[in-house]
Amino acid sequence: MNDYKDKIKSTIDLDELEKLRIEIFGKKGVLASSFIKLKTLANEEKKEFASKLNILKKELSDLLQEKKEFLERKRVQKVMQKDGVDVTLFDAACESGALHPVQATMDKIINYFLNMNFEIQEGPLVEDDFHNFEALNLPKYHPARDMQDTFYFKDSKLLRTHTSPVQIRTMLKKKPPIRVISPGAVFRRDLDLTHTPQFHQVEGLVVEEGDKVSFANLKFILEDFLTHIFGDVKVRFRPSFFPFTEPSAEVDISCIFCKGEGCRVCSHTGWIEILGCGMVDPNVFSAVGYENVSGYAFGLGIERVAMLLHQIPDLRSLYEGDLRLLEQFK
Ligand code: PHE
Repeated sequence: MNDYKDKIKSTIDLDELEKLRIEIFGKKGVLASSFIKLKTLANEEKKEFASKLNILKKELSDLLQEKKEFLERKRVQKVMQKDGVDVTLFDAACESGALHPVQATMDKIINYFLNMNFEIQEGPLVEDDFHNFEALNLPKYHPARDMQDTFYFKDSKLLRTHTSPVQIRTMLKKKPPIRVISPGAVFRRDLDLTHTPQFHQVEGLVVEEGDKVSFANLKFILEDFLTHIFGDVKVRFRPSFFPFTEPSAEVDISCIFCKGEGCRVCSHTGWIEILGCGMVDPNVFSAVGYENVSGYAFGLGIERVAMLLHQIPDLRSLYEGDLRLLEQFK
């Protein structure tokens, strides 16, 4: 039976090895017949033969196993050599991509607020009248609804026109203190040089119990944020109106192209409007059942920031997927 050891050793094929295994270990294999022979032996002889047989059995089984693993490894190596892909191989012809300027700008804005201890809160793109308008102090037939050309669905659902409904969702879910930003897509029926039907905003909301939050807090964070994004610019707060904030302001930065001298981009005013903000209106707090709290909110368009940072004249070009534009952002 020892020649089976040599046979195993010289096999170079998995199928052949399997045949050998059956010849040795199968029901009618050589081991089985040796064990039958064992029964016919006298006691003394039996013991010796049995122990030899068991040793041999173990040796053969180890050899088979070893060989099997070896041949399987070989087979995998062969396949790898033929079909495998070397992911570490450097291909100079391979083109690298880049983040879309809107995404890159979004990341930059989010990073600033994360460092300022804000949390991210997301909301649905398909909203209802209550969250998008009603709870934000925009009752039905309120003229300010016209400011936001809304896409409506049949069943009184709509595509959110701003990220402000996430303010409502957050306050309905949590108690103050609240310190969140909410980035995401918004939709309006609009299409021209500076408007696309889908664009992106980042909402900010800070609420605390009592009168802890003041306009000064809002002013500080927005001034710090805008100089972080645009560098050395002047920031100005202009009284304005939003139904969900009171008092409200629009925030301008000094024109980054003409440094405030006046040019085409800033319509010769020296200022560029960049976001809306204000102290959360008491009616909004009532709508979510909050009492004795104070807070501020702000919202800004991301495309607008991206256009200014990268001097992109036509907003629509951001969504045409033209590689000649995108390649400039590598
Ligand atoms: N939601 C407003 C808009 O889309 C922006 C805004 C948000 C203004 C929060 C004030 C406070 O124009």
